Amino acid sequence: MNRHELLEWLRTDDPRSLQRLWRLADAARKKHVGDAVHLRGLLEISNYCSRACWYCGLRGGRRGLKRYRMTRAEIEACVRQLAAFGYGTVVLQSGEDPGLAPERISRLVAWIKAHTALAVTLSLGEQPRAVLRQWREAGADRYLLRIETTNRRLLARIHPGEPHGSRMTQLRWLRQLGYEVGSGIMVGIPGQTYDMLVKDLLWFKTMDLDMIGIGPFIPHPDTPLFALRRKKPPAPGQVPATEIMVNKVVALARLMCPEANLPATTALASINAVSGREQALSHGANVVMPNVTPQQYRVLYDIYPGKACVSETAEVCHACIRRRIEKLGRTIGSGPGGRVKRKSGVR
Ligand code: 5AD
Ligand code: FES
Repeated sequence: MNRHELLEWLRTDDPRSLQRLWRLADAARKKHVGDAVHLRGLLEISNYCSRACWYCGLRGGRRGLKRYRMTRAEIEACVRQLAAFGYGTVVLQSGEDPGLAPERISRLVAWIKAHTALAVTLSLGEQPRAVLRQWREAGADRYLLRIETTNRRLLARIHPGEPHGSRMTQLRWLRQLGYEVGSGIMVGIPGQTYDMLVKDLLWFKTMDLDMIGIGPFIPHPDTPLFALRRKKPPAPGQVPATEIMVNKVVALARLMCPEANLPATTALASINAVSGREQALSHGANVVMPNVTPQQYRVLYDIYPGKACVSETAEVCHACIRRRIEKLGRTIGSGPGGRVKRKSGVR
């Protein structure tokens, strides 16, 4: 698909065209990754963060948010629980927490690999190459680091203090170290245009990403982007942070990268609690990340307001997600659910 076609899909509101897009994406999903929906247990191990991203409620400068860091025993208990649920992957996520010693993560990863059959995905922000290597050597299989937007100016603006090009460099390192690499974007960031989304989609393909997380931007009142959005009216070419727009990007990502794992994101479930995940699963997505974080911490992992599942327990989410997937006529994936191999075997 070329630039022009992508732009046309992103701009269309014609219901018949959209039906066609949904059908094409769903067929590509079925053909390339099948009916299985893979479940990844998401464990939010710490909400400390030393960065100051303009969109994120965990940003270091924010006052009034109680911070937590889960203990090793708490993490182990959650890992055992999600393995018992039958999930194939644990995702360990946190802010960029200087209090989480790399060694500690290595030991934890090694323990998970020794005691369970789980794939381990890390989502712990930007890290030195030596640390990424150490974690990989300890047994980590995958790493998630969203680029958020590939537009350099917008990227620099919402990530103050981040060295130019550092996320791209990180993603390259992850690939070199043999991780399965996940990235993704937020849709509807203030200042994001349709043309930028087209470039993001082309970039997904160039990067041959194994996983692509796509969710709506949700303004958090304690962040600079919220204030900015209120002060300045949206520019004429602004992409809306709507469910339909996110679904279009998910569908197009499926068509651009037919074999990638695409989650129906929590952010999407947060803007539509009734059917946000189902919509994405019907329009190209094939992964769900049920939250397994203990209840007392969920509410503190306050990335954006109205986050889905903050008052539920892991058991409740587990039953809820199973029911939703079965109702769609899809099956629950078994095993780690890694990237499917391309026939030619080359990247
Ligand atoms: N709205 C939507 N998504 C957000 N994230 C962080 N803050 C927000 C927000 N305000 C997403 C980012 C990040 C992921 C962990 O959560 O894409 O990579
Ligand atoms: Fe958490 Fe439905 S997935 S309540």
